[in-house]
Amino acid sequence: MKIVVIGGTGLIGKQVVEILSSQGHEAKAASPSTGVDSVTGQGLDEAMVGADVVVDLTNTADFDEKVVVPFFSTSSRNLLAAEKRAGVRHHVALSVVGTDRIGVGYFAGKTAQEKAVREGGVPYTILRATQFFEFIPLIADAGTRDGSVYVTNHLMQPMAAADVARIVAETAVSPAIDGVLEMAGPERAGLDEFVGRVLAARNDSRPVVTDPQAGYFGIPIEETSIVPLGESRIGDITLKDWLNSTSQHGL
Ligand SMILES: NC(=O)c1ccc[n+]([C@@H]2O[C@H](COP(=O)([O-])OP(=O)(O)OC[C@H]3O[C@@H](n4cnc5c(N)ncnc54)[C@H](OP(=O)(O)O)[C@@H]3O)[C@@H](O)[C@H]2O)c1
Repeated sequence: MKIVVIGGTGLIGKQVVEILSSQGHEAKAASPSTGVDSVTGQGLDEAMVGADVVVDLTNTADFDEKVVVPFFSTSSRNLLAAEKRAGVRHHVALSVVGTDRIGVGYFAGKTAQEKAVREGGVPYTILRATQFFEFIPLIADAGTRDGSVYVTNHLMQPMAAADVARIVAETAVSPAIDGVLEMAGPERAGLDEFVGRVLAARNDSRPVVTDPQAGYFGIPIEETSIVPLGESRIGDITLKDWLNSTSQHGL
């Protein structure tokens, strides 16, 4: 199968390209650094010639709603239009668990992306993942004030990027479901607990202060806003295993 991975140079994208290539598929990473831009449309038609599947793993570093909404809606609309022209049979998009319940801030961007995918006219599968373990240090940094890390004790169920990539790759070579699948990590606990465990493993001495009202990147959340409420695929890698492997690799 020819599978174009938009955002194939990113954290998840790189691993998805690697997995699919190792299975004998023609997996092609496409992103601005390879001359393909889903926002301007540059290089899209050329990248999609002969593609069976397109996996959208793009992201923007900016969390501002005014940036993420136009980014994800324009990018998704351009991708789906190019996919229709090229006869692509399956569009896979990676979204975030809670997108359907939160809908503001960064989640507004993911809502716009999911809507564009549903209306795009190409058979699709929307995957929603919880926060990656790799993302937890950023959550800590975002909550830092005067040397302390203020985070909520509302629940999270994070997962390793490697588990996300494995499930994305599996979905890419499966039939489109025209619906949503959710995935999460093997453990559920307070966000403060996960942040504390990651900081401790990294010998980061910032104290973690539990503040139920801290929200998530400035977005007010409730107890179960960012964990799956229904059925979900569960990743294999625990935070303990991930911390052990990242410390061995000096990360
Ligand atoms: N972080 C989390 O905890 C989390 C949880 C659930 C879901 N997600 C979702 O997972 C997805 C992938 O995240 P990630 O952490 O792997 O992202 P990432 O490492 O930040 O990589 C982003 C990728 O998007 C590409 N990109 C940026 N602008 C583009 C454009 N205009 N056209 C085409 N490609 C563009 C980048 O290309 P260059 O390298 O060329 O710049 C890069 O390959 C995102 O959609 C995110 O919403 C994240």
